[in-house]
Amino acid sequence: MDHFDYVNGAMHVEQVPMTEIAEAVGTPVYIYSTATLTRHVGVFREALSRLADPLIAFAVKANPNGAVLATLAKLGLGADVVSGGELLRAIAAGIPASRIVFSGVGKTAGEMRLALEHGIYQFNLESEPEAEMLSEVALSMGRQAPVAYRINPDVDAGTHAKISTGKSENKFGIPYDRALESYAAARDLPGLDVQGVAVHIGSQLTDLAPLEAAFVKVGALIGQLRAAGHDIRTADLGGGLGVPYDPSLPIPPLPAAYGEMVTRVTSGWNVRLMFEPGRVIVGNAGALLSRVVRVKQGAQAPFVIVDAAMNDLMRPSLYDAWHDIRAVNPVGKRATANVVGPVCETGDTFAMHRDMDVVQAGDLVAFMTAGAYGATMAGTYNSRPLTPEVLVSGGKWAVVRARPPIEALIEADKIPDWVRD
Ligand code: LLP
Repeated sequence: MDHFDYVNGAMHVEQVPMTEIAEAVGTPVYIYSTATLTRHVGVFREALSRLADPLIAFAVKANPNGAVLATLAKLGLGADVVSGGELLRAIAAGIPASRIVFSGVGKTAGEMRLALEHGIYQFNLESEPEAEMLSEVALSMGRQAPVAYRINPDVDAGTHAKISTGKSENKFGIPYDRALESYAAARDLPGLDVQGVAVHIGSQLTDLAPLEAAFVKVGALIGQLRAAGHDIRTADLGGGLGVPYDPSLPIPPLPAAYGEMVTRVTSGWNVRLMFEPGRVIVGNAGALLSRVVRVKQGAQAPFVIVDAAMNDLMRPSLYDAWHDIRAVNPVGKRATANVVGPVCETGDTFAMHRDMDVVQAGDLVAFMTAGAYGATMAGTYNSRPLTPEVLVSGGKWAVVRARPPIEALIEADKIPDWVRD
């Protein structure tokens, strides 16, 4: 459920008309709803309410905006970070280091040092060479790093290939079958305190079965590790729960069903459970608002050319992702259209042959479910400045990231004298 609703025929975000934001800030612009964020955190937490003290570490990569992170920090969430940059943004937004876990296959020594200085809760290691490097860095600082190994359970998440992470051919984690050896080697590294096991098999999962299969493997491994003398105290079950994008498809499992499955599968594990949800918290809490530049006749269907492009919302180009596209002031008629951006690539296409509200030049359209992996993946291709972001709460709203002037792009380039001469 979200808080993007039509009031008197015009789409509002909570109590704010989208047209008001478009006129004040311009388009394209990302808009987030605080009430939706709050609701999703509540639903996710409620789903896990039968677990003792779970750590819900929001996957910062899904939406690293400081105001969004600060909202989630106030609601008590931790953070799952994958770079020094994400770590510093989470801390700047008020998320305590004691609730931060560091994931990712390529942590550098500098990032490890930074995370150790801040005293994060856990490093999720993804290889033996990484374990060795972290041990050395920690020792050089007179510390011990709290670690888990991310295991690769060789489970097919059944999602898009580019966002599947738990098959043996994927780059993530240590092979399940070698886990006991990897843990034994880690125990001998004096800079590490081996405390847990982690897993994350992919994103936008619409079936609980692969998650359950992976968690069952984690449970079995915890037993084997304890039998081998490891003191396993945490289990990080990652993120991955899907959200509804296309209203004509069955809705993915709800957090309540996920929580019920997790509670059943993990009973008796006797660990602190950790979770890294991203999309399920922020996905439906955001929309990308854009204006129709013009409508052009096409061979099969009209092309609706909007002022947002693949650089603002990359998911359709990158994963053929489906986002609902709604008129902000629908006239009550529907027709088939192609929705495209102005970037000079055929891939800059949001939808083909889409049955949608009829719109014309100057109308506003909203790309729904754009709160996760939207603004965070934006770039400046075609010299288009980064998309601004707005946060709404009830009847108030604020720009939480301004649209940079084009001069910022121009001035960032330095032209050496010997080029000019
Ligand atoms: N934990 C780890 C280690 C991850 O790699 C990810 C996402 C998450 C948690 C959060 O997953 P979520 O709950 O959001 O599914 N850009 C793609 C999604 C990439 C996901 C990468 N990892 C998209 O737009 O669909």
